[in-house]
Amino acid sequence: MTRVAILISGGGSNMLALVRDMLSGDHPARPVLVAANDPAATGLARAAQMGVPVAAVDHRAYGRDRAAFEAALIQPILAAKPDILCLAGFMRVLTPDFVRQFEGRMLNIHPSLLPKYPGLHTHQRALDAGDAEAGCSVHEVTAELDAGPLLGQARVPVLPCDTADTLAARVLVQEHRLYPAVLRRYAVGDRRMVNLPPAPTGVSG
Ligand code: GRF
Repeated sequence: MTRVAILISGGGSNMLALVRDMLSGDHPARPVLVAANDPAATGLARAAQMGVPVAAVDHRAYGRDRAAFEAALIQPILAAKPDILCLAGFMRVLTPDFVRQFEGRMLNIHPSLLPKYPGLHTHQRALDAGDAEAGCSVHEVTAELDAGPLLGQARVPVLPCDTADTLAARVLVQEHRLYPAVLRRYAVGDRRMVNLPPAPTGVSG
């Protein structure tokens, strides 16, 4: 059974979608740890309620010393012996040294149609550019931020009345469909691209 650890920073809605899918049965993987860089991340209590071991390492205790923070963060991760590491709403940039330890078995979900809009404020940038569509991407994590091999994408229409918040909410619904679909394949070594069909109208929020 493939062992999956998930890193979060906040509410962890993507983490919950992954955990629920893994616990739903007939899944090749199971969650072995949810870890956060903030002890107050509400996703930790939600993971614990679902019986998943949790850990928190407060990055603020390490100031600007990323390496020291990561040396602390990697302890509970290695102890959980994951085969795959999923970043899910994890908002810290990881150093190449950390990534190197999981290269080829670390995933992230990013709220844009990569390679468009790596980094932050993706929805506002799509609106400012006048894009007709937006979406989310799951990719393998490499040392370069938001640039690893794509494993899945889901698209949503941009509506004339959209704000960054309304677009983010529509994309988030697709994130919760896409990430579990990609992990199901990735967990059995299937690297084929997942292109989710558009959600049934009225569902995408
Ligand atoms: C989502 O938009 C996700 O794409 C981004 O962080 C946001 C919150 O994710 N990485 P979650 O609800 O904490 O999973």
